[in-house]
Amino acid sequence: MEKSDRKMWIGGKWVAAQGGKTRDVISPADGKVLAKVPEASADDVRSAISAAREAFDTGPWRNSVARDRGTMLFKIAEAIRANAKELAETDSLNMGKPIVEAEFDAGDAAHCFDYYGGFCTKLEGKTMTVPDNALSFTLREPVGVAGQIIPWNYPLLMSAWKIAPALAAGCTVILKPAEQSPLSALMLADILEKAGVPEGVVNVITGDGPVAGATLVSDPRVDKIAFTGGGEAGKMIIKSAADSMKRTTMELGGKNPNVVFADCDFESAVDGALFGAFANQGEVCSAGSRLLVDKTIYKQMCEALKEKVKRVKLGHPLERDTKMGPLVTAEHRDRVLSYIEIGKKEAKLLCGGGAPKDPALAKGFYVEPTIFVDAHNKMRIAQEEIFGPVLTVIPFSDEAEAIQIANDTPFGLAGAVWTRDVTKAIRVLKQIRAGILWLNTYHPTYNEAPWGGFKQSGFGRELGPWGLEEYLETKQININLTEAPLGWY
Ligand code: NAI
Ligand code: MG
Repeated sequence: MEKSDRKMWIGGKWVAAQGGKTRDVISPADGKVLAKVPEASADDVRSAISAAREAFDTGPWRNSVARDRGTMLFKIAEAIRANAKELAETDSLNMGKPIVEAEFDAGDAAHCFDYYGGFCTKLEGKTMTVPDNALSFTLREPVGVAGQIIPWNYPLLMSAWKIAPALAAGCTVILKPAEQSPLSALMLADILEKAGVPEGVVNVITGDGPVAGATLVSDPRVDKIAFTGGGEAGKMIIKSAADSMKRTTMELGGKNPNVVFADCDFESAVDGALFGAFANQGEVCSAGSRLLVDKTIYKQMCEALKEKVKRVKLGHPLERDTKMGPLVTAEHRDRVLSYIEIGKKEAKLLCGGGAPKDPALAKGFYVEPTIFVDAHNKMRIAQEEIFGPVLTVIPFSDEAEAIQIANDTPFGLAGAVWTRDVTKAIRVLKQIRAGILWLNTYHPTYNEAPWGGFKQSGFGRELGPWGLEEYLETKQININLTEAPLGWY
């Protein structure tokens, strides 16, 4: 990865911001500047929208041969694989995730393009049985220009989740990565260019939320906004998008219940509790940040967590044995630390509780894996999304109470259940109001399966055929087969 000044990709050209403004991209591992990227002004965003609008309206992409579009997506997948090492290192250095996790992301991102590449030749309509002598059928057509706004926790993977289905549908795209972590999205733009994606079909703009993101959302030439991020920004986006009747999809946060019954496989549940809470530093919308534990194994679970959490090794994100890297920014680290202070007043600290003492980590934005026990569900550390390595452990008495606590937050994104009782598992899984659930595991995420939330975790689904639907309109066409005047007048 070359550590130099970057440009944005607008209308098939690599450009600086019109006023020449830049932003330093910082590595959370040591606070050093990794690169400078353009800081898009509203005018830059409008020029990207013009490019995407023109590319959609003149149609080099949506009117191309579907088979060729699929082949291009396969080519992009191959190129991601060929550059996986560099892409993974970039995300790892840019936002702090352990390199081994970043490598998984790169593999998933490549497969996401393969998956949607296969759909290009399978966009099919229906014929309807209608009362007239007519042929009535549907066509699936792209929704138009898609503005895509993504967060910093999975920079490459979120870029793939957004761009791949949009391209398969025939849309054109303006992608805005998070201001903290734009580097892998720019590398992906380079891959798209080399694969031959026509100019203006995908545009990648680097800029902030209030200026660049907000301009994308308010401009009437954008037909759809796909957003992943926090609820606060999500609500602002929905309101602004309403003015031009944009379609929106919202993938927001969670405070996800990880429910452990006494009849589980205990060691697996301990692993699942730690992985659910601490993978990607806990900076995961679907993190199992509330561990609900049957009170008959509560003490045993707390002891096991205290012992096994020692294996969650904090370290430089590029070290292969690192299990947890730094948080994305100093600001976010401070926000997480302030929640830890709240937790110390509300509940009992089991382990962690601050920045690590290791001098080798002093320059990075690290936080120890932190577990609070003896908590109840009304506490702030049980209700609010902390988005860091903080786990809140809550006891429950029976199945009904477990379900009640699991559902008692404004969110409904994900969750898991641990038990070997099949019928109980199904009963509980059916009662949890969330879009993504696991039994006896935590976190596996498949490009083939629908991703998204209930309640304030958002609406719409990404991935699978559902993710493609969000980029399609349905058109009905009726062909009169009776060649005679209507005779009405
Ligand atoms: P954010 O939601 O503000 O940022 C996510 C993306 O939205 C970024 O690209 C940002 O530039 C853009 N954005 C922000 N405000 C916007 C606006 N008014 N109009 C258009 N685009 C806008 O997330 P932030 O500030 O980084 O984190 C705040 C909290 O949100 C976190 O602590 C966490 O709880 C939650 N979050 C949830 C994520 C998820 O995956 N569901 C991802 C990131 C954050
Ligand atoms: Mg924000």
